[in-house]
Amino acid sequence: MKNILVTGSSGQLGRELVVQLRAKQYYVVGIDLVASPTTDQIIDIRNSDDVDRLTIGFDAIIHTAAMHGKHYELNYPREKFINTNINGTLNLLNACVLNGIRKFLYISTTSIYGNAMVDEKQAVWVDESLVPNPRDIYDTTKLTAELFCRDFFEKNAIESTVLRVSRFLPETENLKAIHRLYRGLDEADGARGIILALEKSFTTFEIYNISNDSPFKPEDLPELIKNPKEVIKKYYPNIEKIFADKNWVFPEKIDRVYSIEKAKRELNYLPINNFNIFIEH
Ligand SMILES: NC(=O)c1ccc[n+]([C@@H]2O[C@H](COP(=O)([O-])OP(=O)(O)OC[C@H]3O[C@@H](n4cnc5c(N)ncnc54)[C@H](O)[C@@H]3O)[C@@H](O)[C@H]2O)c1
Repeated sequence: MKNILVTGSSGQLGRELVVQLRAKQYYVVGIDLVASPTTDQIIDIRNSDDVDRLTIGFDAIIHTAAMHGKHYELNYPREKFINTNINGTLNLLNACVLNGIRKFLYISTTSIYGNAMVDEKQAVWVDESLVPNPRDIYDTTKLTAELFCRDFFEKNAIESTVLRVSRFLPETENLKAIHRLYRGLDEADGARGIILALEKSFTTFEIYNISNDSPFKPEDLPELIKNPKEVIKKYYPNIEKIFADKNWVFPEKIDRVYSIEKAKRELNYLPINNFNIFIEH
């Protein structure tokens, strides 16, 4: 399996995927609406004729292109999310059937757990058994596309797998470090996790959380929501001094912990750019 199509190849995650795949000697074609050094063709995934024509001869598609959280915050109309995230994904899955592409990796989001991550009494342990409870049109369209993936796995024997990646938005170093403790992702680690899924054969439809590694354990959940600083100090005894030296602040609460145990166990996913890299010199 050597010929890979990456959608959204000018985006933050797509760029990283193209670079890592090429370094591993895959033949990669990147497609996007926007030109960049990692994009080979300007294609709109909403256009099914273009998608059908372009996808001939590939072994796998990694689908990252989307309208996402940042567009939601900019109040884009719901139709835009539906057209790109639902119709665009459906066009790609139909093209897999038409052109005999056997493998499809769908980049989803931990955001779809939505309201299932709200509990005033304790932080929520977010593994793949938590039932998604979408909060908005972004989550709804990403969850719908996940369901399409399962449908094509079951009815069309397309080996589709869902990777729910966590947050990798531009943020201050302080916030980025805090997020890496429980809900953040370095996109280079994310791309490595996705490539592990590309290189594995699946006989069942699977969904994986892909995030950075958290030091926290289920027994920390009640304390995390009220007093995260004490829990962080338990794992990093010198952390107060390190934060003071950097002028960093501690979070007031930690409301969830993304679990990546399934990806570790089944994909051998081992992220390296965890919280520790922010405090080691
Ligand atoms: N950034 C995050 O924090 C985050 C968190 C969780 C999940 N995700 C998911 O990860 C994926 C990648 O996110 P990102 O931050 O790299 O996004 P990004 O916005 O940086 O990149 C997405 C790319 O898709 C392209 N695109 C959009 N519509 C298209 C269309 N119709 N046809 C072709 N290309 C199109 C855009 O031009 C863009 O280059 C998305 O599916 C997103 O839902 C992102």
